[in-house]
Amino acid sequence: MTSPILVTGGTGTLGRLVVARLRDAGCEVRVLSRSTREAEDGIEFMAGDLATGEGIEAAVDGAGTIMHLAGGPKGDEDKARNLVRAASRAGARPLVYISVVGADLIPVASRVDRAMFGYFAAKRAAERIVADSGLPFTILRATQFHDLMLTVAQQMAKLPAVPLPAGFRVQPVEADEVAARLVELALGEPAGMVPDMGGPRVYGAAELLRGYLRATKRRRPIVAIPLPGKAARAFRDGANLAPEQAEGQRTWEEFLADRVS
Ligand SMILES: NC(=O)c1ccc[n+]([C@@H]2O[C@H](COP(=O)([O-])OP(=O)(O)OC[C@H]3O[C@@H](n4cnc5c(N)ncnc54)[C@H](OP(=O)(O)O)[C@@H]3O)[C@@H](O)[C@H]2O)c1
Repeated sequence: MTSPILVTGGTGTLGRLVVARLRDAGCEVRVLSRSTREAEDGIEFMAGDLATGEGIEAAVDGAGTIMHLAGGPKGDEDKARNLVRAASRAGARPLVYISVVGADLIPVASRVDRAMFGYFAAKRAAERIVADSGLPFTILRATQFHDLMLTVAQQMAKLPAVPLPAGFRVQPVEADEVAARLVELALGEPAGMVPDMGGPRVYGAAELLRGYLRATKRRRPIVAIPLPGKAARAFRDGANLAPEQAEGQRTWEEFLADRVS
């Protein structure tokens, strides 16, 4: 029997899609999650918390490739450090990590930067931890997923007038297309830092929101707010975009047509 592929974050938006694709490819899968779940066909769930380190050693024990897809708004560098430490102790295992486009280009220096864009600094720190681990690794940076943009749009549309950061653009990508790429990478040889992956089109933030408002037959005034700080400037300069790597096929409009009635 081959070793299972360990998927951290296998219960999340991206992770669930990755797990389904790994199963389709005939792989045994082990999912690390903070909550316990019943095993499913070919999927074993193990409880652990990457932030505290609890349960990680048992999760990496006997696993083959590790796909590290767990993440959150804060502390992704600590999660990566704890995982890498346990994986290194257990012996060399290839590690596949999902990061975000702009992790290396969005400077998070001041308190203002950190408050708004600390996520990017944490992803960059996590990338470094993976790359310096001595483990064979692959890192893919993706732009924002459609699902995240939908959540943001739903929250924003609750306001009578919607404030949006002036000059921000986004290039949303379908999470399942990122999942497909990650599975392809995990089943191949470790490749280091691979080319970024972005969605098919770049949208102004207001244009993206208007698409959502149109799809839900609503109107809202949109107010552009200039954001201070170097990180916000990098965003205005397009550091979060990958127009040369517009690999995604599914557009925001197609996603909305499916998800918003
Ligand atoms: N969303 C985007 O637009 C986007 C874009 C580029 C890159 N990414 C990256 O892609 C990854 C997945 O994003 P997503 O949107 O699919 O996330 P998500 O839906 O919010 O899911 C987060 C996952 O991380 C797990 N997790 C969080 N904290 C954990 C902890 N302390 N210990 C163990 N597991 C933990 C959760 O598992 P449990 O709750 O079951 O414990 C869940 O499976 C993240 O690394 C994110 O930074 C996301």
